[in-house]
Amino acid sequence: MKPLNKVLINNDTNLNPIWIMRQAGRYLPEFREIRKQNPDFINLCLNDNLASEITLQPLKRFDLDAAIIFSDILMLPYGLGQKVAFEKNFGPKLGELNLNEVIKIDEIDFVQKIHRIYKAIKKVSTSNILKEKNTIGFVGAPWTLLVYMINQQSPKKNLKKDFFKDEFLINRILLIIEKFLKIHIKNQIDYGANIIQIFDSWAGLLDEKDLPNYVYAPTLNLVNYVKSLKVPVICFPREIKNYKEFCNIVKPDAISIDYNVDPKKILDDIKIPVQGGLDPKILLTDYVNLKKEALKYLEIFKNHPYIFNLGHGILPDTNPEMVKNLIKIVKNY
Ligand code: CP3
Repeated sequence: MKPLNKVLINNDTNLNPIWIMRQAGRYLPEFREIRKQNPDFINLCLNDNLASEITLQPLKRFDLDAAIIFSDILMLPYGLGQKVAFEKNFGPKLGELNLNEVIKIDEIDFVQKIHRIYKAIKKVSTSNILKEKNTIGFVGAPWTLLVYMINQQSPKKNLKKDFFKDEFLINRILLIIEKFLKIHIKNQIDYGANIIQIFDSWAGLLDEKDLPNYVYAPTLNLVNYVKSLKVPVICFPREIKNYKEFCNIVKPDAISIDYNVDPKKILDDIKIPVQGGLDPKILLTDYVNLKKEALKYLEIFKNHPYIFNLGHGILPDTNPEMVKNLIKIVKNY
């Protein structure tokens, strides 16, 4: 059985497998080298040779237990025909969402635009390095994708002031997103992903009263869909205040926690396997501090099924040596 499955399916508490969000990324010089020659990020994600090579880069360096496919949650709006670009020092920039065009897109158009992601997954999942390891496929949660599709940029930069006004539009787009997310999930699994993670990076933007409609219900539909395909599903509803309620309603196989939540409270509140938590900024400090902070999570979750990870993506300034140290600390525990 693959390492993450031991935790997710067997609730193993002795093993703390580790992978790192954004493990294939800018902190690795070998990634930056490829990136420099490929200024168009979307094209890079759609280049199955390079995308699979990038996915495997961190596994060649480090003793990680899983690969996460090199792609992006915004490949979904791209597949729906919305313009998506990534600007240096700005982040994603999306074109205007044209609902009349989007509703004309069918499954064949969508898959045609992004099928090379699936080719990359096939290459990764059948590579020798991953024989005993997991291949993680992922999607953005409907809510987070909706935020990018309507807001056209990160809400951290600027949130359109009438964003929440048109409830009809929001619900309509959520349904379209959900339909295509299911197609995207099914294809990732068919081509070799054996775990799905759902990233809800902007769940924390919502008032508590809106969570059932915009986060719980659409995510529950996806979680049930992944479960019906017999693959474990991990949810990462970043910065929500009530993880317990989320888990009770959505019932993923594991919950990934951000670095602002108190892991002790999570341990008290939550019965399902837990993933992550460590603040990525800790990797910018020193070995002694890294060991102290990593051991904190390992101690708290020592009798709980736990997958080691960070509380958000690894930062570009991270020294790869610190990643090596972290993995050693976790494996030696
Ligand atoms: O984790 C991995 O190694 C797999 C690849 C992965 C990427 N994006 C590659 C990427 C994953 C799982 C994502 C998820 C993603 N993308 C999320 C959810 C997680 C989170 O961070 O909250 C979100 C919100 C996005 C949207 C997105 N893509 C943003 C906001 C940005 C710009 C910010 C940044 O870090 O540069 C991206 C670009 C992006 N996605 C890069 C990578 C490696 C950087 C591209 C570059 O090299 O310029």
